[in-house]
Amino acid sequence: MKKVILTGDRPTGNLHIGHYVGSLANRLKLQEKGDYDKFYIMIADTQALTDNVNNVDKVKNNIIQVAIDYLSAGIDPEKVNIFIQSQVPELAEMTMYFMNLVTVSRLNRNPTVKDEIKQRGFNASIPVGFMCYPISQASDILAFNSTVVPVGEDQLPMLEQTREIVRSFQNTYGGNVFAMPEPLLPENDVCRRLPGTDGNLKMSKSAGNCIYLKDEADVVKQKIMNAYTDPNHIKISDPGRVEGNVVFAYLDALCTDEDFKKFLPEYQNLDELKAHYRQGGLGDVKIKLFLNNVMQQLLEPIRNRRKELEKDVDKIYEMLFKNGEKAREVAGETLRRMKNAMGIDYSKFLTK
Ligand code: TRP
Repeated sequence: MKKVILTGDRPTGNLHIGHYVGSLANRLKLQEKGDYDKFYIMIADTQALTDNVNNVDKVKNNIIQVAIDYLSAGIDPEKVNIFIQSQVPELAEMTMYFMNLVTVSRLNRNPTVKDEIKQRGFNASIPVGFMCYPISQASDILAFNSTVVPVGEDQLPMLEQTREIVRSFQNTYGGNVFAMPEPLLPENDVCRRLPGTDGNLKMSKSAGNCIYLKDEADVVKQKIMNAYTDPNHIKISDPGRVEGNVVFAYLDALCTDEDFKKFLPEYQNLDELKAHYRQGGLGDVKIKLFLNNVMQQLLEPIRNRRKELEKDVDKIYEMLFKNGEKAREVAGETLRRMKNAMGIDYSKFLTK
């Protein structure tokens, strides 16, 4: 069987360091490993619209932002097909057919959707499109015969829904049309969820606690110097807590022993630094300046590439549109096989 990787993001804002650690780094690794037949990254504008009916401009404008974030982080458009979801209308048609295989009560049980309904304050006014996005996401995955779907933990219910649709389609129509997709979670526990700079559990644009890939060096430094550490670590001599401390969470995710040699040679590794912090005698400024060095080392090349890419945005749109055409061909073929299995391929009624 072919190995097809597909993943995606909603274009609702620029990507931040949480995205980098949680998904981009993993995608870069997969790209470098190269052991796949196809690799798609979809900019999920249609899905973003399901809870942004009044923010069309936001979604539209962030398509290019997210594309630039991908490319500047090192996603290679020669190796990975980056495309825009709405440019593959076959996905919408597939979704219509899949909707008949999923019950309303099943949709109501999706824990991620439930959380999102609470967060968005939809109450009783849940858009039908939003409620159904897990079905549309199944189309995204199945249209390309994806076998590997790199996602965060919050997306596991979507994968489960997708797998149910594969089984249900097979039971109903047969035809072995779809590959069975598997989720691929980030390996590293600390990378699964990076806290915001304010100590909140999650980085989110609305909370204003993100470090963006596009942030200028001085902005990054300022955010780090203001980051939440241990409120009881007041004097340098006080013992400090590492758990729940944003600086250590970021260091856990980002720093290597090499970084200590380069930027903080008094310590060999993070364990030593943590031990000293716990014991007392290590100030926040020192760990923050170290984190700043580590972070700048990662972000500077990304920022520089972004500036180059921004000079020719048309070229990026062109790439996205061309990729959309290629994606359409693949999705169209899957749709044909699907309709064939369903017995709704009417071309056979043509006599000539
Ligand atoms: N739901 C994903 C998110 O919110 C985005 C997405 C849309 C996606 N379609 C997908 C992810 C297909 C993986 C595969 O981040």
